[in-house]
Amino acid sequence: VDAAGTRHFALTAGTGSSEVLAGRTTATWGFNGSMLGPTIRARRGETVAFAIDNALSEPTSVHWHGMHVPARYDGGPHQAIEPGARWEPTWTVNQPGATLWYHPHPHGSTEKHVYRGLAGLFLVDDDVTDAIDLPKDYGVDDIPLIVQDKRFTSDGALDESDPTDVGLLGDTVVTNGIAGAYLPVTTELVRLRILNGSGGRTYNLAFSDDREFRLVATDGGLLSAPAALRRLLLSPGERAEIVVAVRGGSDVVLRSVPADDRGGLDRTAATQFGFTDTLDILELRPERTLAPSTAVPSVLAPIARLDPATAVAERDFELQWFMINGAQMDMNRIDFSPTVDTTEIWTVRNADNWPHNFHVHDVQFQVLDIDGSPPPAHLTGWKDTVYAPPGRRIRLALRFTEYTDPAVPYMFHCHLLLHEDQGMMGQFLVL
Ligand code: C2O
Ligand code: CU
Ligand code: CU
Repeated sequence: VDAAGTRHFALTAGTGSSEVLAGRTTATWGFNGSMLGPTIRARRGETVAFAIDNALSEPTSVHWHGMHVPARYDGGPHQAIEPGARWEPTWTVNQPGATLWYHPHPHGSTEKHVYRGLAGLFLVDDDVTDAIDLPKDYGVDDIPLIVQDKRFTSDGALDESDPTDVGLLGDTVVTNGIAGAYLPVTTELVRLRILNGSGGRTYNLAFSDDREFRLVATDGGLLSAPAALRRLLLSPGERAEIVVAVRGGSDVVLRSVPADDRGGLDRTAATQFGFTDTLDILELRPERTLAPSTAVPSVLAPIARLDPATAVAERDFELQWFMINGAQMDMNRIDFSPTVDTTEIWTVRNADNWPHNFHVHDVQFQVLDIDGSPPPAHLTGWKDTVYAPPGRRIRLALRFTEYTDPAVPYMFHCHLLLHEDQGMMGQFLVL
């Protein structure tokens, strides 16, 4: 932190090798290390400044997923960092406390960069999150989990062959860079900040004994009240913060189980795209004697509802066959331009029988309804990415604030990274 109060960070994207599988060496990519990246943490109101170096032999970029940020510092495909070059974005954090993340977004090769290990968490703190009594001792009872699926060749290298139509699907879950991850737990309650950092796999989170857990936050911050769940579908790019109670000396496994309702897919697609798989994510190993935790409060953060009656524009987005509204990404085409300080309603519809999701840069949105019905509890908070089951009509309310740029666009896209790379993406200016 400098004299002016700006918090400085340095990140270098580079290559290395990691012990992802016990006793083996895998060539991987990472920020400031051989795989993944450091957790960045800043408070609302703080100015952050980055020096980002590209030590790779190809262009990359660093996008602040979920962050409200000026378009020229968004880190999308227009802010490529050439090999050997440095990029220096800076902005003032101005949004609720949340679990955000950062990852490369180079046009056409995002899936590869993220799969090889370029991803990290960006935690935003604010007075509201500070005041709420949730486990918050980082690394002790507040645990970040970057969940990715990978495949390995017989010599331990990352296997990048045979992508499916949703991209590479792995048979091994790699959590925080290691396969077979476990966590010694020392407290009665543990908070897991879970990022689906996979390119194509959707997880249906559950515990091995089917115990209930409390969902306390989604992409853009705390829910207004905790939701008691036994299952939670998390598609690529989404985050969930859950709090789970453990019993002294009794192990339990966080895993992905077959999706309820097959995630809205038909039998063939569900099998083909991993929605029927069971995969272990993290084993929790509680000590015999646990330190007491405070019960999860029944009220969390107030969420000001965006009023759809004030919307000045409505837009439709049809997701189909690597395209949105029949068009593929064109770096030189601006699809539309919302006006700053206005609210819009966007309707997203997956017109395929494949899984897709929908992510918007710069803003956190609210789900108004799905096929006319109010959203389930896990979609009632701030979101920047939402799973779009085939055929469903999801209405979102979005409000554009603060930053305008007449020339540099933000992106909206499917966050299944192969789909994004193949052009299932568009661009908007905030004017
Ligand atoms: Cu997480 Cu446009 O990306
Ligand atoms: Cu993003
Ligand atoms: Cu998609």
